[in-house]
Amino acid sequence: MWFGGDYNPEQWGEKVWAADDALMRQAGVNTATVGVFSWSVLEPDEGRYDFGWLDATLDRLWHNGVRVVLATPTASPPPWFTLAHPDAMPVTRDGTRLWHGSRDTYCAAAPAYRAAAARIAGALAERYAGHPAVAMWHVHNEYGTVCWCDHAAAAFRGWLQRRYGEGRYGKGLDGTGRDGLAALNEAWGTAFWSQRYSSWEQVLPPRATQWLPNPSQVLDYSRFWSDEMLAGFCEQRDAIRRHTPEVPVTTNFILAHYQVADFWSWSREVDVVAIDHYLGSAGPDGHADLAFGADRARSWNGGRPWVLMEQSTSLIYRRDRILIKEPGRMLRDSVGYLARGSDSVMFFQWRASHSGAEMFHPAMVPHAGPDTRIFREVCELGDAVSRLGEVAGSTVPADVAMFWDADSWWALENRGIPLAEVRYLDLVRADHAALWRAGVVCDFVHPLGELSRYRLVFATAAYLISDEGAQALLDYVEGGGHVVMSFGGGMVDARHHARLGGYPGPLRDVFGIRVEEFRPLPPGETVPLAGDGLAGDGLADDGLAGGGVAGGGVAGGGHGTVWSELLRCEGAEVLASYAEGPLAGHPAITRNSFGAGTAWYVSTQLDEDTRDRLVAAAAAEAGAGPVVAGAPPGVEIVRRHGDAGRSWLFVLNHSGAAAVVEASGVDLLSGRSADGQLEVAPGGVAVLREHGFGAAADGTGPAGRD
Ligand code: GLA
Repeated sequence: MWFGGDYNPEQWGEKVWAADDALMRQAGVNTATVGVFSWSVLEPDEGRYDFGWLDATLDRLWHNGVRVVLATPTASPPPWFTLAHPDAMPVTRDGTRLWHGSRDTYCAAAPAYRAAAARIAGALAERYAGHPAVAMWHVHNEYGTVCWCDHAAAAFRGWLQRRYGEGRYGKGLDGTGRDGLAALNEAWGTAFWSQRYSSWEQVLPPRATQWLPNPSQVLDYSRFWSDEMLAGFCEQRDAIRRHTPEVPVTTNFILAHYQVADFWSWSREVDVVAIDHYLGSAGPDGHADLAFGADRARSWNGGRPWVLMEQSTSLIYRRDRILIKEPGRMLRDSVGYLARGSDSVMFFQWRASHSGAEMFHPAMVPHAGPDTRIFREVCELGDAVSRLGEVAGSTVPADVAMFWDADSWWALENRGIPLAEVRYLDLVRADHAALWRAGVVCDFVHPLGELSRYRLVFATAAYLISDEGAQALLDYVEGGGHVVMSFGGGMVDARHHARLGGYPGPLRDVFGIRVEEFRPLPPGETVPLAGDGLAGDGLADDGLAGGGVAGGGVAGGGHGTVWSELLRCEGAEVLASYAEGPLAGHPAITRNSFGAGTAWYVSTQLDEDTRDRLVAAAAAEAGAGPVVAGAPPGVEIVRRHGDAGRSWLFVLNHSGAAAVVEASGVDLLSGRSADGQLEVAPGGVAVLREHGFGAAADGTGPAGRD
């Protein structure tokens, strides 16, 4: 298990370096990410390198037992770069060119930037090839800066020509072999508002426009920009691999509230997925948010262990507020990431900076020094992580998955569509949180991924479904899969064209419905729901509703917000209807048998309680349950599986009361044994090496230090 964080010795003198060495030993740090923003000190002038301090750092860390995740510094080009290549500075959507003085100031499509980035990456790899400290490469930092300049425009045209076919010999997206520009015109619907292009030169990024931009153009630009940044990553990766083919290469994905990269395609190019995760909420919702981030990272990495590259020790800076992590939270959060498949616990950063834009960002060693609550907790965490070495490499099985689809996110957040106020992230988070509350572990899956691995799939916020995606979902349900689709599903195809004949387009038969009309609900407005026609069909036995389905069913007392739909059942049964308003008496939630499977459709955003009941019902019907049944509220339980049948049960008590859970094994953290029942203190955690699996089930105490 890797434990440590970003380490920036270039911000400090040698006296502090010696103190760092001692404190890292004290805290049990075994990993440091070095060089993330060091370009201006590594290459003070173009082509002139100063590796002295980095040589010393790597040697020092190595002798101190600390492995290095060596970063390329390309997220922050030095000032000399701006003056030498002003054309490589980014331009905003409305044409403002940005200048150095912050970070991430470059255009990822500018040839001069790309060449300089690949050059410094190659120079670093050449210099440190064979250095025993270098355990992993960390290319760049949190790719995400978007640009709308002329370099970006030229690269966009190239990307479009490849996508839609090159002139009259190309096949185009529709495979007809028509001219690529004609295919582009069709895909972007340019007959609307006189946007037809008669030459490639006319095609631009979606820069600031007078009124609503073309949604297909905007979607393609998002796809293109993800690919363009990825191409830059691959250039650096390949420059590195030429010198150190044996060292894995990654980059730290940023899990922000905006989406600028398709992490499925990025995950195919990195050797291991690494994420930075800063909670969206410090309260109870933060626990579900943590699981949401971790479950995505694991899924992008194909279920294999992944890297938590950054988290925060004590404060989280959001755009509009500062969140505070309470004492004890650092350990519980960190064990939460490990529970869901991370093999590392890393922070931004080791030592709090004394100057610069982020000097008040928390760190493992705060401004006040090591004699502090934070550093003491860091040391306790280091000790805990060192006891969990045997868990490394194990995996987290899941029976349930949820769609994660950058295309749908990008399409859904276009201005001008009726769902523009609906945030992709909020919808997916809400369904994932319901599963989290139910204790059900959830993977994420691309709509074209391996759906058949799962008993139940949530097609949440699946506003865009390609023809291939629709076919894959149809095959999945026909073959016995269970799916829950949320409102607005399948409204558009991959070109961002509306589906004709009723939504969800090609999936109408699967769901046995036809959505005729949508009716967004004004902010704050709710529409009551009522169970309808479900009496005696057995759903009540699944524990859906205290009063039985006939007395309210899935939706008894519940309501919808945000959105409603006039939908017609064409084979589906009605589980709940709208109880009032213009849609009174019309179906709100339906279920359909299709082939050997079941397809649920939810036409509004359900309140939390109703969503919980629906999620529990769908999971129960699909045969997917919690990791441990009957866990007290606020107790999170996840199991990791190792080879030879070994398993570890992670129990996180987020509640304020002691919790008792049915479990047997040895707690690697405390050394205590549990035989049938495990008690976990309020706010506490336990990691049980479970009895009955593999060796050392004899209660002999914690594992040796890793
Ligand atoms: C990101 C960056 C770090 C730092 C932190 C602060 O994760 O990678 O460099 O800015 O945010 O929250």
